[in-house]
Amino acid sequence: MTSQGKQPRGLAVLISGFGSNLQAIIDAIAAGELAARVNCVISDRPEARGLLRARRAGLPSRVVRPSDYGDRAAFDAALARVIDDYGVALIVLAGFMRILGADFISRYEGRIINIHPSLLPKYPGLDTHRRALENADTNHGASVHFVTGELDAGPVIIRESLQIDKHDTEDTLRERVHRLEHRILPRAIDWYLQGRLTVSGGEVLLDGRRQPDQGL
Ligand code: GRF
Repeated sequence: MTSQGKQPRGLAVLISGFGSNLQAIIDAIAAGELAARVNCVISDRPEARGLLRARRAGLPSRVVRPSDYGDRAAFDAALARVIDDYGVALIVLAGFMRILGADFISRYEGRIINIHPSLLPKYPGLDTHRRALENADTNHGASVHFVTGELDAGPVIIRESLQIDKHDTEDTLRERVHRLEHRILPRAIDWYLQGRLTVSGGEVLLDGRRQPDQGL
């Protein structure tokens, strides 16, 4: 629980690229909208732009590169060592483009969340914007969910949707969905850190209640 007088609880934010979701977390904390602290930013790619954002914000960052390890289990173990060094309450996958092994996930079960650019359970995996356009969907959006062993399939914490415009391209849709992501990720983190989320029967409850299904 975060409350006045207590230290905000720590996050590990895992990234692979641009890091605009990391930036949204940094900005929400700076604006006093999210009582959290980013204990470490971890990237699997040394060239990730998000690492510059971390540096600019004065946050500790580490690179854990898959090519430095013999297999996925060794990579996952190295990642876990870094996370444990920083002692975090929640692991946030914010554009982290690697699949984590079952051992890693079960070690942190209930303490890892991911942001995904679709209205899950629709379109797990890649190319979500292209798939939404190809299927002539009228709605699209973003979801934050708990990470389980199944790709992009864990219990959904929050979704937000937008209407696809007839002029939308993959690029405009990506941009518009990104803006939604930047709103819902800090909100989901805040709910988690305030102890407002529980999972019951594969469904996430907020303050013990089911949420209306935004956009579905
Ligand atoms: C986001 O669209 C996120 O949903 C997906 O990867 C993208 C990361 O964007 N998992 P950024 O690096 O946070 O800008």
